[in-house]
Amino acid sequence: MHYHLLSSLLLFLLFFSPAMALSLRYPLSLFATLLLVHTLAEAQTSSDPFIHSRAAYYPNSDKQGTDSGACGFGSFGATINGGDVSAASDLYRNGVGCGACYQVRCTNAAYCSDNGVTVVITDQGSSDRTDFVLSRRAFGRMAQTTDAAASLLALGVVDIEYRRVSCSYPNKNITIKIDENSNYPHYLGFVLWYQQGKKDITAVQLCETKNMVCKLLDRSHGAVWTTTSPPSGALSLRMLFTDEDGDDESWVVPINSIPQDWKAGETYDTGVQT
Ligand SMILES: *[C@@H]1O[C@H](CO)[C@@H](O)[C@H](O)[C@H]1NC(C)=O
Repeated sequence: MHYHLLSSLLLFLLFFSPAMALSLRYPLSLFATLLLVHTLAEAQTSSDPFIHSRAAYYPNSDKQGTDSGACGFGSFGATINGGDVSAASDLYRNGVGCGACYQVRCTNAAYCSDNGVTVVITDQGSSDRTDFVLSRRAFGRMAQTTDAAASLLALGVVDIEYRRVSCSYPNKNITIKIDENSNYPHYLGFVLWYQQGKKDITAVQLCETKNMVCKLLDRSHGAVWTTTSPPSGALSLRMLFTDEDGDDESWVVPINSIPQDWKAGETYDTGVQT
């Protein structure tokens, strides 16, 4: 429980007292590390019950998702997780749901496997009372065999059960992909790749590494964070991870900075994974 106090204190410092934060830089990093450890320990437990719904698949001929997914992930959003991706309707949650992982299994015992498929949300969309519009690949992977997959695809929309699960990207750190539309130094937009675990990124701050003056960014759409006047100099990112109930929040501070001369289209490894 004292972690909650710590994260509240952390929040307070970050939002209301940049000057104070300067003198407390090291303790803050220490808190962040403690919170990170706490998060890792918790990730092993809990498996939620399945929820009944329906799923369809993308009408495009491509087996994967779409490059123009609402989350703003670009081609990453079509190919991440081997192309096992999905659009979500309510679970899109105004973009907060981007990057979340779900186990989805169809319920027709003649065709469907027990485990179904694990998908990453990279787009927004719905079909006929569906919660998921899966990539063709992911839709087919709910089946027991390739023949069964063909039968499933022929059905178009199927009954499913789903539950939120941890995302897992072995050997990947959270990576900052600077939006192609960014315009140094006036406008900075980016998405975060390889968000592991079962929490949502609900806020992002950019701080000047030199003086720790921080700025809260806007979620412009989907998973895209933007600011029209980014701080100058080398930049340090802070990400607020929140669990589903919203009662466990922790700021994660990357090891690596975004370089002073960041470039549109470039990717930067944060050096951390949650
Ligand atoms: C992830 O970050 C760690 C620590 O900074 C680093 O040693 C490692 O090489 C990074 N992994 C990848 C795949 O870039």
